[in-house]
Amino acid sequence: MQTLLFQDSGLIKEMARPPKGQLLKWIGNKQRFARRIVSFFPDDFNRYHEPFLGSGAVLGTLAKDGSVGADCFQPLVEIWQTLAQSPDTLKRWYDERWRAMADQGKRETYEAIRESYNSHPNAPDLLFLCRSCYGGVVRFRQADGYMSTPCGVHAPISPESFSRRVDEWHMRVRKATFVHSEHEETMSRARKGDLVYCDPPYSHTQSILYGAQSFSLERLLKTIGDCKSRGVFVALSIDGSKRSGRFHCQLPPADGLFEREILLDCGRSMLKRFQMNGLSLEDEVVHDRLLLTY
Ligand SMILES: C[S@@+](CC[C@H](N)C(=O)[O-])C[C@H]1O[C@@H](n2cnc3c(N)ncnc32)[C@H](O)[C@@H]1O
Repeated sequence: MQTLLFQDSGLIKEMARPPKGQLLKWIGNKQRFARRIVSFFPDDFNRYHEPFLGSGAVLGTLAKDGSVGADCFQPLVEIWQTLAQSPDTLKRWYDERWRAMADQGKRETYEAIRESYNSHPNAPDLLFLCRSCYGGVVRFRQADGYMSTPCGVHAPISPESFSRRVDEWHMRVRKATFVHSEHEETMSRARKGDLVYCDPPYSHTQSILYGAQSFSLERLLKTIGDCKSRGVFVALSIDGSKRSGRFHCQLPPADGLFEREILLDCGRSMLKRFQMNGLSLEDEVVHDRLLLTY
């Protein structure tokens, strides 16, 4: 009975709380806004799909059984699959590398793990690198995809602390499915009454940071239009400021696609009708925005 109640979307929304700590450090992590983002989800929807999963802040906050998380970055998806199916394996991956660092020296061990990752991109190394690299910013060189971030100045969290995070995140995502796929493919699987939340790289330059091959906002808007016409709800985050001060993220024309725009970091709740025809909010200083097709 309790499970049934918990699976009611309206209740899930109200009960949504972000996990106590982040499992992964990732550029563009939505931990800070996750609860607000979820509060703008429809009261009632079927399956939840997140095609640009990254560190999964929103999926982890919503914690709805049957959700689908996907990303085009294979080693990252393997971390999620392992979290759901074999959390002890994830703990072991972290523990082994943390102990090597304690025994053999921080910088030397970090560089050896980075070398191992770069010679053969893999989930266990990526997991530890994202927790221990400088600023938690996993960066890839444009020319050859080489993970180039230096060792962080901080001490990576202890295996005990990491293990507690794994337990909490595992409980939240154990009934989710994680898929390695491009966003178009993930979104094509959404059915009428489902919800898709998109948090894409907001520009070509940002997609390079993730090691993603190609990303086009125009293509994404077309896919969102296809979803909307099938009766799928879509929420789109557009992050226009984090790494570039007053950068204004220009949206390509999308007449009639979105019904509402929410500015997430204004300090007060601002819900505006989304205006198109060149009269949108582009002229304002724009920060994190949420666009809704419903
Ligand atoms: C802004 S991040 C998502 C951050 C996430 N909301 C969080 O809380 O960590 C964008 C993610 O999209 C992925 N990505 C980039 N291009 C993609 C594509 N074409 N299809 C699927 N995923 C893509 C990147 O690997 C990255 O993990």
